Amino acid sequence: MTFSHIPVLCGEAIEALKIRSDGTYLDMTVGGAGHAEQIVFRLDKAGRLFGFDRDEEAVEAAKNRLAAYDKQITILHENFKNAVSVLKDLGVSGADGILADLGISSHQIDDETRGFSYMKDGPLDMRMDRTQTLSAKDIVNTFPEGALTRIFREYGEERFAARIARAVTKEREKGEIATTGALNDIILQAVPKSARKAGSHPSKRVFQSLRIAVNGELEGLSDCVNEWISFLHPGGRLAIITFHSLEDRIVKQTFRTAQKPCICPPKTPVCVCGRVSAGRCIGTRAIRPSAEEITGNPRAKSATLRIFEKKRENDEWQTEP
Ligand SMILES: C[S@@+](CC[C@H](N)C(=O)[O-])C[C@H]1O[C@@H](n2cnc3c(N)ncnc32)[C@H](O)[C@@H]1O
Repeated sequence: MTFSHIPVLCGEAIEALKIRSDGTYLDMTVGGAGHAEQIVFRLDKAGRLFGFDRDEEAVEAAKNRLAAYDKQITILHENFKNAVSVLKDLGVSGADGILADLGISSHQIDDETRGFSYMKDGPLDMRMDRTQTLSAKDIVNTFPEGALTRIFREYGEERFAARIARAVTKEREKGEIATTGALNDIILQAVPKSARKAGSHPSKRVFQSLRIAVNGELEGLSDCVNEWISFLHPGGRLAIITFHSLEDRIVKQTFRTAQKPCICPPKTPVCVCGRVSAGRCIGTRAIRPSAEEITGNPRAKSATLRIFEKKRENDEWQTEP
């Protein structure tokens, strides 16, 4: 299967990075290298791009797509949680721009053997990194009912979470739930008929929640964002694209906290935290795809881009609250 993925908010993300031709750039989620190609295209011989992905197929696709730039690029099969420490081991001390386009690629959704989609029957897998042991099948067949309810409710914002978890635990007593099709049928049976008609497909939320749980997508995300900000050179930019509100909330809060010079409770008379602002959020609002982009690529619909700029020595805004 060829790797196909249309990069989302591509022009906006590249513009956000303010690319310098001799700079060092990181793509934390290189995927099919749609964004990465636009970055490396703007670099001269002194410029460098490091790309990371936890999916081996994405790493291969990115290496192939960027083969013409092999002197400037390094693409690694690595979870972005380890990216900064890997870069330090390689002798890289900082970056001028960092991009993270979170979530999954169209390639992962469209390949039924990966088990991400409720619309295609396949093994209940959902691992982005296939060297990982935990899969969706393990969660669905072994986690206690209460834990399943929490996953469906917290990561899927599913109002029938408890009913679906009960149906799953009842069904697995008869035999292992091994396929996306089988899970989809159980969800549809568990959700009241009236709710099935209104809004989005109930499996969409449950599958999203399982994907987040399998891949630990929200765990440590805020720490990663802070680490990436620290790794930026003064004036460097971090651009993050998210695809659901849970992730966006984490990015928004982390950026806001990083911007604050002081995080003492409002009633503290004198600052005791001693913090200085790490930089500033760019733009008063997040950037969303245009109607035109959504028409051309409906998967862009839920995308949100947020940008953070690392403080320079003489930036005046650094002293403001
Ligand atoms: C939306 S796609 C990125 C697409 C890419 N920007 C492009 O233009 O083709 C997200 C990618 O991030 C990868 N990914 C998600 N979480 C990751 C993590 N923690 N570490 C590394 N890669 C991750 C997924 O495997 C997927 O390939």
